[in-house]
Amino acid sequence: MELNQLLERITDEIAPLRGAGSVADYIPALARVDPSRFGIAVADLDGGVHGTGDWEIPFSVQSISKVFTLALVLADSDDVLWQRVGREPSGSPFNSLVQLEHERGIPRNPFINAGALIVTDQLISLVGDASTELLALLRAESGNADLRVDDEVAGSEAAHADRNLALTHFMASYGNMRNPVATVLDQYFRQCSIAMSCRDLALAGLFLAAHGLRRDGSSMLTSRQAKRINAIMLTCGTYDAAGEFAYRVGVPGKSGVGGGILAIIPGRCSIAVWSPGLDKRGNSVAGVAALDHFTTLTGWSIF
Ligand code: DON
Repeated sequence: MELNQLLERITDEIAPLRGAGSVADYIPALARVDPSRFGIAVADLDGGVHGTGDWEIPFSVQSISKVFTLALVLADSDDVLWQRVGREPSGSPFNSLVQLEHERGIPRNPFINAGALIVTDQLISLVGDASTELLALLRAESGNADLRVDDEVAGSEAAHADRNLALTHFMASYGNMRNPVATVLDQYFRQCSIAMSCRDLALAGLFLAAHGLRRDGSSMLTSRQAKRINAIMLTCGTYDAAGEFAYRVGVPGKSGVGGGILAIIPGRCSIAVWSPGLDKRGNSVAGVAALDHFTTLTGWSIF
Protein backbone atom coordinates (compact mmCIF):
# COMPACT_ATOMS: atom_id res chain seq x y z
CA MET A 1 0.00 0.00 0.00
CA GLU A 2 1.24 3.51 -0.83
CA LEU A 3 2.19 5.59 2.20
CA ASN A 4 -0.39 8.27 1.44
CA GLN A 5 -3.13 5.64 1.20
CA LEU A 6 -1.94 4.08 4.43
CA LEU A 7 -2.07 7.43 6.24
CA GLU A 8 -5.60 8.08 4.86
CA ARG A 9 -6.68 4.66 6.10
CA ILE A 10 -5.23 5.30 9.57
CA THR A 11 -6.92 8.72 9.67
CA ASP A 12 -10.27 7.03 8.90
CA GLU A 13 -9.71 4.29 11.46
CA ILE A 14 -8.93 6.63 14.34
CA ALA A 15 -11.81 9.01 13.46
CA PRO A 16 -13.99 7.80 16.38
CA LEU A 17 -11.16 8.78 18.78
CA ARG A 18 -10.90 12.40 17.61
CA GLY A 19 -11.79 14.52 20.62
CA ALA A 20 -11.42 11.59 23.06
CA GLY A 21 -9.49 12.28 26.25
CA SER A 22 -9.04 15.79 27.57
CA VAL A 23 -6.83 18.69 26.54
CA ALA A 24 -4.12 19.82 28.97
CA ASP A 25 -5.60 22.61 31.05
CA TYR A 26 -2.89 23.14 33.66
CA ILE A 27 -1.35 25.42 31.01
CA PRO A 28 -4.44 27.54 30.22
CA ALA A 29 -3.27 28.61 26.74
CA LEU A 30 -3.26 24.92 25.69
CA ALA A 31 -6.86 24.40 26.80
CA ARG A 32 -8.14 26.54 23.92
CA VAL A 33 -7.06 24.11 21.18
CA ASP A 34 -9.78 22.30 19.20
CA PRO A 35 -9.67 18.73 20.63
CA SER A 36 -10.92 17.14 17.39
CA ARG A 37 -7.77 18.01 15.44
CA PHE A 38 -5.75 15.12 14.04
CA GLY A 39 -2.71 15.09 11.78
CA ILE A 40 0.03 12.62 10.92
CA ALA A 41 3.23 13.00 8.89
CA VAL A 42 5.95 10.53 7.92
CA ALA A 43 9.40 11.67 6.77
CA ASP A 44 11.55 9.07 5.08
CA LEU A 45 15.33 8.87 4.83
CA ASP A 46 15.28 10.26 1.27
CA GLY A 47 13.82 13.48 2.62
CA GLY A 48 10.30 12.79 1.30
CA VAL A 49 7.47 13.73 3.62
CA HIS A 50 3.85 12.54 3.46
CA GLY A 51 0.93 13.58 5.62
CA THR A 52 -2.80 13.61 6.10
CA GLY A 53 -5.38 15.51 8.15
CA ASP A 54 -4.16 18.56 10.08
CA TRP A 55 -0.53 17.73 9.39
CA GLU A 56 0.47 21.25 8.42
CA ILE A 57 -1.13 23.08 11.36
CA PRO A 58 1.32 24.17 14.08
CA PHE A 59 0.78 22.99 17.65
CA SER A 60 2.72 23.36 20.89
CA VAL A 61 5.50 20.77 20.94
CA GLN A 62 5.86 20.84 24.74
CA SER A 63 7.87 17.86 26.01
CA ILE A 64 8.83 16.70 22.53
CA SER A 65 11.36 19.56 22.69
CA LYS A 66 13.21 17.49 25.32
CA VAL A 67 14.47 15.10 22.64
CA PHE A 68 16.14 17.92 20.75
CA THR A 69 17.71 19.67 23.77
CA LEU A 70 19.12 16.29 24.83
CA ALA A 71 20.57 15.80 21.35
CA LEU A 72 22.19 19.26 21.45
CA VAL A 73 23.78 18.59 24.83
CA LEU A 74 24.98 15.08 23.95
CA ALA A 75 26.38 16.34 20.64
CA ASP A 76 28.77 18.43 22.75
CA SER A 77 29.69 15.83 25.36
CA ASP A 78 28.27 12.66 26.90
CA ASP A 79 30.09 12.62 30.19
CA VAL A 80 29.02 15.61 32.22
CA LEU A 81 25.28 15.24 31.75
CA TRP A 82 25.09 11.66 33.00
CA GLN A 83 26.56 12.72 36.33
CA ARG A 84 23.53 14.96 36.81
CA VAL A 85 20.65 12.89 35.42
CA GLY A 86 19.94 9.15 35.15
CA ARG A 87 18.61 7.06 32.27
CA GLU A 88 16.13 4.77 33.94
CA PRO A 89 12.36 4.88 33.48
CA SER A 90 10.65 6.64 36.36
CA GLY A 91 7.31 4.85 36.40
CA SER A 92 6.00 8.17 37.72
CA PRO A 93 4.10 11.07 36.16
CA PHE A 94 6.17 13.55 34.15
CA ASN A 95 6.00 16.27 36.81
CA SER A 96 6.40 14.07 39.89
CA LEU A 97 8.57 15.14 42.83
CA VAL A 98 8.59 11.88 44.77
CA GLN A 99 11.81 10.25 43.55
CA LEU A 100 13.89 13.41 43.71
CA GLU A 101 14.39 13.41 47.47
CA HIS A 102 15.27 9.71 47.66
CA GLU A 103 17.73 10.16 44.81
CA ARG A 104 19.24 13.37 46.18
CA GLY A 105 18.25 15.76 43.42
CA ILE A 106 19.33 13.52 40.51
CA PRO A 107 16.30 13.02 38.23
CA ARG A 108 15.64 9.54 36.86
CA ASN A 109 15.90 10.45 33.17
CA PRO A 110 16.12 13.45 30.80
CA PHE A 111 12.49 13.27 29.65
CA ILE A 112 10.60 13.80 32.91
CA ASN A 113 10.33 17.51 33.70
CA ALA A 114 13.06 17.42 36.38
CA GLY A 115 15.52 15.74 34.01
CA ALA A 116 14.69 18.07 31.14
CA LEU A 117 15.30 21.06 33.40
CA ILE A 118 18.82 19.70 34.05
CA VAL A 119 19.36 19.28 30.29
CA THR A 120 18.22 22.87 29.68
CA ASP A 121 20.51 24.09 32.46
CA GLN A 122 23.41 22.26 30.81
CA LEU A 123 22.53 23.69 27.39
CA ILE A 124 22.45 27.22 28.86
CA SER A 125 25.95 26.63 30.24
CA LEU A 126 27.07 25.51 26.78
CA VAL A 127 25.44 28.10 24.52
CA GLY A 128 23.75 30.79 26.63
CA ASP A 129 20.43 31.24 24.84
CA ALA A 130 19.31 27.60 24.79
CA SER A 131 15.91 28.11 23.17
CA THR A 132 17.41 30.14 20.31
CA GLU A 133 19.97 27.37 19.72
CA LEU A 134 17.13 24.85 19.71
CA LEU A 135 15.09 26.94 17.26
CA ALA A 136 18.08 27.14 14.92
CA LEU A 137 18.35 23.35 14.86
CA LEU A 138 14.61 22.86 14.34
CA ARG A 139 14.45 25.47 11.58
CA ALA A 140 17.40 23.94 9.75
CA GLU A 141 16.13 20.37 9.96
CA SER A 142 12.49 21.15 9.18
CA GLY A 143 13.39 23.61 6.43
CA ASN A 144 10.87 25.99 8.01
CA ALA A 145 12.55 29.31 8.80
CA ASP A 146 9.29 30.62 10.30
CA LEU A 147 9.30 28.37 13.38
CA ARG A 148 8.73 30.49 16.49
CA VAL A 149 8.20 30.33 20.21
CA ASP A 150 4.51 30.95 20.93
CA ASP A 151 4.88 33.75 23.48
CA GLU A 152 1.33 33.37 24.71
CA VAL A 153 1.91 29.71 25.62
CA ALA A 154 5.30 30.52 27.19
CA GLY A 155 3.64 33.27 29.28
CA SER A 156 0.86 30.91 30.29
CA GLU A 157 3.40 28.28 31.43
CA ALA A 158 5.33 30.89 33.40
CA ALA A 159 2.15 32.09 35.09
CA HIS A 160 1.25 28.54 36.19
CA ALA A 161 4.69 27.28 37.09
CA ASP A 162 4.39 26.18 40.71
CA ARG A 163 5.28 22.54 40.00
CA ASN A 164 8.26 23.30 37.77
CA LEU A 165 9.47 25.97 40.21
CA ALA A 166 9.33 23.41 43.01
CA LEU A 167 11.26 20.83 40.96
CA THR A 168 13.95 23.32 39.95
CA HIS A 169 14.45 24.80 43.42
CA PHE A 170 14.54 21.33 44.92
CA MET A 171 17.31 20.24 42.56
CA ALA A 172 19.14 23.53 43.23
CA SER A 173 19.00 22.70 46.96
CA TYR A 174 21.02 19.55 46.17
CA GLY A 175 23.55 21.57 44.17
CA ASN A 176 22.33 20.15 40.85
CA MET A 177 21.67 23.47 39.08
CA ARG A 178 24.39 25.59 37.46
CA ASN A 179 22.35 28.61 36.38
CA PRO A 180 19.75 30.73 38.21
CA VAL A 181 16.43 28.96 38.59
CA ALA A 182 14.57 31.83 36.86
CA THR A 183 16.86 31.66 33.81
CA VAL A 184 16.50 27.89 33.50
CA LEU A 185 12.72 28.03 33.76
CA ASP A 186 12.42 30.89 31.28
CA GLN A 187 14.45 28.93 28.71
CA TYR A 188 12.58 25.69 29.48
CA PHE A 189 9.17 27.35 29.00
CA ARG A 190 10.34 28.88 25.73
CA GLN A 191 11.58 25.53 24.38
CA CYS A 192 8.29 23.83 25.32
CA SER A 193 6.27 26.61 23.66
CA ILE A 194 7.76 26.27 20.19
CA ALA A 195 4.95 25.72 17.67
CA MET A 196 5.51 23.14 14.92
CA SER A 197 3.35 21.13 12.55
CA CYS A 198 3.56 17.35 12.13
CA ARG A 199 5.40 18.02 8.89
CA ASP A 200 8.02 20.20 10.64
CA LEU A 201 8.44 17.74 13.48
CA ALA A 202 8.78 14.60 11.36
CA LEU A 203 11.50 16.29 9.30
CA ALA A 204 13.25 17.71 12.37
CA GLY A 205 13.41 14.29 14.05
CA LEU A 206 14.72 12.48 11.01
CA PHE A 207 18.35 12.50 12.23
CA LEU A 208 17.33 9.99 14.89
CA ALA A 209 16.11 7.59 12.21
CA ALA A 210 19.22 8.34 10.12
CA HIS A 211 21.68 7.16 12.78
CA GLY A 212 22.58 10.74 13.72
CA LEU A 213 22.97 12.28 10.25
CA ARG A 214 21.35 15.63 9.55
CA ARG A 215 19.39 16.25 6.37
CA ASP A 216 22.41 17.96 4.73
CA GLY A 217 24.48 14.81 5.36
CA SER A 218 26.54 16.31 8.19
CA SER A 219 26.74 14.53 11.52
CA MET A 220 24.54 15.71 14.38
CA LEU A 221 25.29 12.68 16.59
CA THR A 222 27.31 9.51 16.27
CA SER A 223 25.23 6.44 15.45
CA ARG A 224 25.90 5.24 18.99
CA GLN A 225 24.48 8.48 20.44
CA ALA A 226 21.43 8.28 18.15
CA LYS A 227 20.89 4.67 19.27
CA ARG A 228 21.06 5.80 22.88
CA ILE A 229 18.57 8.65 22.50
CA ASN A 230 16.17 6.26 20.75
CA ALA A 231 16.59 3.83 23.64
CA ILE A 232 15.74 6.53 26.18
CA MET A 233 12.72 7.53 24.10
CA LEU A 234 11.53 3.93 24.15
CA THR A 235 11.99 3.45 27.89
CA CYS A 236 11.16 6.96 29.17
CA GLY A 237 9.52 8.97 26.37
CA THR A 238 5.94 8.44 27.46
CA TYR A 239 6.60 8.46 31.24
CA ASP A 240 4.56 6.03 33.31
CA ALA A 241 2.97 4.75 30.08
CA ALA A 242 6.29 3.75 28.44
CA GLY A 243 5.54 0.04 28.90
CA GLU A 244 2.09 0.40 27.38
CA PHE A 245 3.47 2.48 24.49
CA ALA A 246 6.14 -0.16 23.75
CA TYR A 247 3.43 -2.85 23.94
CA ARG A 248 1.07 -1.08 21.55
CA VAL A 249 3.41 0.82 19.22
CA GLY A 250 6.80 -0.82 19.64
CA VAL A 251 9.12 2.01 18.56
CA PRO A 252 10.85 4.89 20.36
CA GLY A 253 8.41 7.75 20.96
CA LYS A 254 8.23 11.07 22.79
CA SER A 255 4.97 12.72 23.71
CA GLY A 256 4.02 16.26 24.70
CA VAL A 257 0.97 17.64 26.49
CA GLY A 258 0.14 19.66 23.36
CA GLY A 259 -1.01 16.29 21.97
CA GLY A 260 1.97 15.61 19.72
CA ILE A 261 4.08 12.46 19.57
CA LEU A 262 7.35 12.00 17.68
CA ALA A 263 8.07 8.35 16.87
CA ILE A 264 11.27 7.02 15.32
CA ILE A 265 11.71 3.91 13.24
CA PRO A 266 15.50 3.60 13.11
CA GLY A 267 16.86 3.16 9.60
CA ARG A 268 13.45 3.92 8.02
CA CYS A 269 11.52 7.05 8.93
CA SER A 270 10.28 9.45 11.57
CA ILE A 271 6.60 9.96 12.27
CA ALA A 272 4.86 12.91 13.92
CA VAL A 273 1.27 12.67 15.00
CA TRP A 274 -0.93 15.27 16.68
CA SER A 275 -4.30 15.15 18.37
CA PRO A 276 -4.85 17.26 21.50
CA GLY A 277 -7.05 14.89 23.56
CA LEU A 278 -4.81 13.28 26.22
CA ASP A 279 -5.16 10.18 28.35
CA LYS A 280 -4.59 10.28 32.12
CA ARG A 281 -0.82 9.99 31.69
CA GLY A 282 -0.59 12.93 29.29
CA ASN A 283 -0.31 11.06 25.97
CA SER A 284 -2.51 11.74 22.94
CA VAL A 285 -5.33 9.16 22.74
CA ALA A 286 -5.81 9.30 18.96
CA GLY A 287 -2.06 9.77 18.45
CA VAL A 288 -1.09 6.54 20.22
CA ALA A 289 -3.89 4.69 18.39
CA ALA A 290 -2.67 6.00 15.02
CA LEU A 291 0.89 4.89 15.74
CA ASP A 292 -0.40 1.49 16.86
CA HIS A 293 -2.17 1.14 13.49
CA PHE A 294 0.90 2.40 11.62
CA THR A 295 3.37 -0.11 13.07
CA THR A 296 0.82 -2.93 12.83
CA LEU A 297 -0.06 -2.25 9.18
CA THR A 298 3.56 -1.71 8.08
CA GLY A 299 5.17 -4.33 10.33
CA TRP A 300 7.79 -1.71 11.17
CA SER A 301 7.81 -2.07 14.95
CA ILE A 302 11.31 -2.75 16.28
CA PHE A 303 9.96 -5.90 17.94
O1 DON B 1 6.61 21.57 31.96
C1 DON B 1 5.51 21.15 31.62
O2 DON B 1 4.72 20.64 32.40
C2 DON B 1 5.14 21.27 30.14
N1 DON B 1 5.78 22.42 29.57
C3 DON B 1 5.57 20.06 29.36
C4 DON B 1 4.97 18.77 29.87
C5 DON B 1 4.79 17.73 28.84
O3 DON B 1 4.62 17.98 27.67
C6 DON B 1 4.69 16.34 29.34
N2 DON B 1 4.38 15.44 28.25
N3 DON B 1 3.58 14.60 28.08
